[in-house]
Amino acid sequence: MRGFFRNVLMSAALVGMGSGMVGQVDAAELTKPSLSENKILNVSHRGASGYAPEHTLLAYELGQQMKGDYIEVDLQMTKDGELIAMHDETLDRTTNGSGLVKDYTLEEIKKLDAGSWFNERYPEYAKDEYVGLTVPTLEEVIQKFGKDARYYIETKSPEVYPGMEEKLIEILNQYKLTGPNVPSSKVIVQSFSAESLKMVHELDPTIPLVQLLWYDTPAAISDAELEEYKTYSIGLGMNYNRIDEAYVQKVRQHELLIHPYTVNEKEDMAKLLDWGVTGMFTNFPDRLQEVIRESK
Ligand code: G3P
Ligand code: CA
Repeated sequence: MRGFFRNVLMSAALVGMGSGMVGQVDAAELTKPSLSENKILNVSHRGASGYAPEHTLLAYELGQQMKGDYIEVDLQMTKDGELIAMHDETLDRTTNGSGLVKDYTLEEIKKLDAGSWFNERYPEYAKDEYVGLTVPTLEEVIQKFGKDARYYIETKSPEVYPGMEEKLIEILNQYKLTGPNVPSSKVIVQSFSAESLKMVHELDPTIPLVQLLWYDTPAAISDAELEEYKTYSIGLGMNYNRIDEAYVQKVRQHELLIHPYTVNEKEDMAKLLDWGVTGMFTNFPDRLQEVIRESK
């Protein structure tokens, strides 16, 4: 795998991006994502959501057991302003409820079953213990996994939820997951919304940010775009199936991390590692662990 070892060596250089000092702390240290042994980030996408209902504590736990480096948490906000772990703006797909998250209080959402849908949709992975699982709040996720875990948090639909960024920072501060005495690599914040990321950056410039992108045609990116992303983010995440080696290398040359999503087949994982990505989101963190191991 010609690209893999080059990738490992370059990662060490790339993670030192950002210069200057924040207080007495080296900014390069603050923005350095904590890396796995091999310098490739294995992000449990919505938890190990290939095996368990996405964004439940069980799915996150499985991701940790499978040696994911980060727990990915998508955020939505309830009617009463609580941040919950959920991908969709609506309750319909992953609970037995229906309608918009923003129209329900946390107490109402807590009554819903967030696991049975998985058993019906994926009978091959169905388990009795998934029935009746509840939707976790961000705080509950952090309370369960604590400061030993790392969190890759996405502000979803921030235009629908004014105050989402402030609430997120408030919670991260409350649990001491940010700040000069804690490696900011405990948390990476990602979003498709540059506005939302810039808001987070204003609220706390030490938090590493990743700009998400979506391509529905073969991906292309200009030097100017990359330099603009570099003004506030340490890396990019994009759908893996529209990129190629030249795209990956261009992003790397601009000293940005690159974490494609959502990569579930070992063949694709190996190809992306060979191209030089610095990590990826997967519903099957155990598969990525195997591919990384086999690549050495
Ligand atoms: O955050 C990376 C990836 O999860 C973005 O897509 O729709 O799965 O949140 P989505
Ligand atoms: Ca996401």
